[in-house]
Order: sequence, then C-alpha cells, then structure tokens
Amino acid sequence: MTDSAAQILEQQQIEPVLLLGPGPSSVSPRVLQSMTHALLGYLDGDFRKVLSEECELLRRSYGTKNPVTFALSGTGMAGMECALSNLLEPGERLLVGVNGFFGERMCEVAQRHGIEVHRVDAEWGKPVDPEELEKAAKAANPKVVAVVHAETSTGCLQPLEPYARVAKQVGALFLADCVTSIGGVPVGLDAHGVDAAYAGSQKCLGAPPGLSPVSFSPRAMDAMAARKRPCTSWYTDVRLLERYYFGEPAAYHHTPSNSMHYALVTALNLLHQSEGQDAVFARHMANHRSLVAGLEALGLRMLVAEGYRTPMLNSFPVPDGVDEAKIRARLRQRDRIEIGAGLGKLKGRILRIGLMGHSSRRAHVASVLTALAAALREQGYRCSTEEALQAAGF
Ligand SMILES: Cc1ncc(COP(=O)(O)O)c(C=O)c1O
Repeated sequence: MTDSAAQILEQQQIEPVLLLGPGPSSVSPRVLQSMTHALLGYLDGDFRKVLSEECELLRRSYGTKNPVTFALSGTGMAGMECALSNLLEPGERLLVGVNGFFGERMCEVAQRHGIEVHRVDAEWGKPVDPEELEKAAKAANPKVVAVVHAETSTGCLQPLEPYARVAKQVGALFLADCVTSIGGVPVGLDAHGVDAAYAGSQKCLGAPPGLSPVSFSPRAMDAMAARKRPCTSWYTDVRLLERYYFGEPAAYHHTPSNSMHYALVTALNLLHQSEGQDAVFARHMANHRSLVAGLEALGLRMLVAEGYRTPMLNSFPVPDGVDEAKIRARLRQRDRIEIGAGLGKLKGRILRIGLMGHSSRRAHVASVLTALAAALREQGYRCSTEEALQAAGF
C-alpha cells in the first residue's frame, strides 16, 4: 500500500472500516466527537467531576459498590498487570484457571513479577472445571485465584460463581478478567464475590482503546495495605493511584489522557442513560443468536458449546480446504469489514466475529454473513447467502 496516513484517514471519514473482530469495536460518532472537546488540567475541578461520574458509571457496569473502581491509563493488559502486581508480592502464590490465550497471559505476566504461578488447564473453548480448580487450590493454598470471564481467544464465557466459591473455600482473593465481558453481559462483581477485576474500554463499553477500568474490593485493598514491600509496578500502584482518583485534595501521579476519559464517560452515558444496560445486554444476545443461526446455515460449526458461548465473540473452525487469511483479506479489502484470526494455538484454525458494543447491530449481522458467504464460495466452499440470511431472521 502506498497510501499516506492522510489518505488512509480521509478514507476512514468516507467509508470507515467496520470493526467486527475481537476488539477494538467501532464506536459511536458521539463518542468520537467527545474526544475533540478542549483539554482540562488533571487537577481541574471540572475534570475531577468527569472522572467521578465515570467511576460511578463503571461501578454500575461492574455491578459493585467498591469505592476503588476507576479507569486506569493503559489498555486491558495494563489492568491485568495492575491487578496481579498489586494483589501479589514476589514469591506469593497465584492459581490461574487457563482455558485460552489470556489465561496464559496472566501466568506470563505474574511470572515476570516474581509471583509463584500454579495453573489448572482446560481445553481451549471449554470452561475450567471447578472441581479441578478446587483440588489445585487446596494443594497450592494460593493468595489469589484468577480466571478469565470471557475468553476472547475462543469465545467461551464461564460463570464466575463456582470459581469464586473455590477462592472463598481456601481464603484466597478472587480475580476476574472482564475485558470482553463488561458491558456485554452482566458481570456482577459483588453478587458473585469477585475481589478484583480489570477490563478494557474498547470492546462492549464502546470507547476507543486506552483505558482499563479496574475495581478492587475492600478485602483486596486490605491485602494491598498489608504488603511487606511496595507494588512491583510504580505506574499501576493502586495505593498511589487512589490518592489521585479519590484523594481530597487529589495528588498528582501521572497525566491522564483527558480525551480518553471524555470518550469513556460519553460511551458509559450512552450505555447506562440513553439505552439502558439491560437493553444493551439484550441487543448483544439477540445479534449473537441471529449470527450463530446464520453461520450454522452456512454449514459452519461453533467452536464453543451452547451454554458457554459469549454473545460478543463468535468463533468457528475454518472448514477444510479454506484459507482463513484469504477470507479475512477479502472481507477487509472488498467489504471494509474486519474480522479476527485465531490466537496462540488456534492461529490459522478458527475465525472470530465480534459483535461488541456499538458494533453489535442487526444490520452488521447481515453484512458480515453476506460478505463471509461470498468469500467462502470464492474458495470453492458451497453455501447459500439466502439460506444464511433467512436463518438469521432477515
Ligand atoms: C480477555 C482479554 N484479556 C486481556 C486482554 C488484553 O487487553 P488489551 O489488548 O486491551 O491490552 C484482552 C484483549 O483482547 C482480552 O480479550
């Protein structure tokens, strides 16, 4: 491609690429516009009001009363690193239920911080077995038990309560990765007994990437207060950040991006005030069901069994004889639609279609089914667009 940055951005104005991958998702024009508002100082009273409203709306998204709930600078990975490095000291034990790429990531990040990692593995695409986790928890006696709520690498959504129960049994803190789940399905931190969680702004919350909403229960905060040594990450040290987000007066820690916070608070207001959280969940579920029906009518089979599918990320094995990279390239170049490839051990083997946040629209289901059917037929795969659209309810 010889196009300059200016030409690419101009084209995005004329015909934006529709983001139906694993994130980021396309955002509402209202959210994009909010980023053009003039900047405010990081200690300015008005900016503090924006942050305070954002924290309150995040508590609603997380289903928590945790006072320490805020949007950390950085993406979901910053949230993951923040949670692990604050809850655990070097040499302390973490037990991770791994059922995909992001569970693996947790282990990797924790190891870098000198944390002793124990893991229970499940087949990718299946939930972690709570009984196996319980056995491992009793053997390892970890300080923290962690799982990924919605594994974006596979599209598996696992219920949080069974794992929370295991953590409680052994007196451990329970940490959940909610990067893909928040805003698309109920998370319910308080109802399920989750002590710490991190997320991303760019998926179902409907903002661009760049902020990681995190939440810590009073129990998690007590564990941080009882640390013998300070957090191994200065930038994401929650006890330092707390003084900026909630201190009276606020204390400088780093300069947060005003524009990102304008975008997130606008997206959260659209979610909670304009549409309503229950309506947003129902929209995600309706579009997921419609897409799955269409995919199955194309003869494709979902990777994850019914009952464990996350509505915002739909993955399916690539049929024999089909080159998945060519499918993605065709959709991106001809239809200006992005869909996702497989990650880690599923690279080259599956395709992933995200219907997240503002991208979860009925019309997008029809667009992606139509484009996918045409791309499959180009590679000699026999399928009917009409049958897919009919099955999807069009
Ligand atoms: C489940 C999960 N955890 C963590 C991450 C990391 O987030 P980010 O890429 O925003 O740093 C992602 C990103 O896709 C994710 O899906």
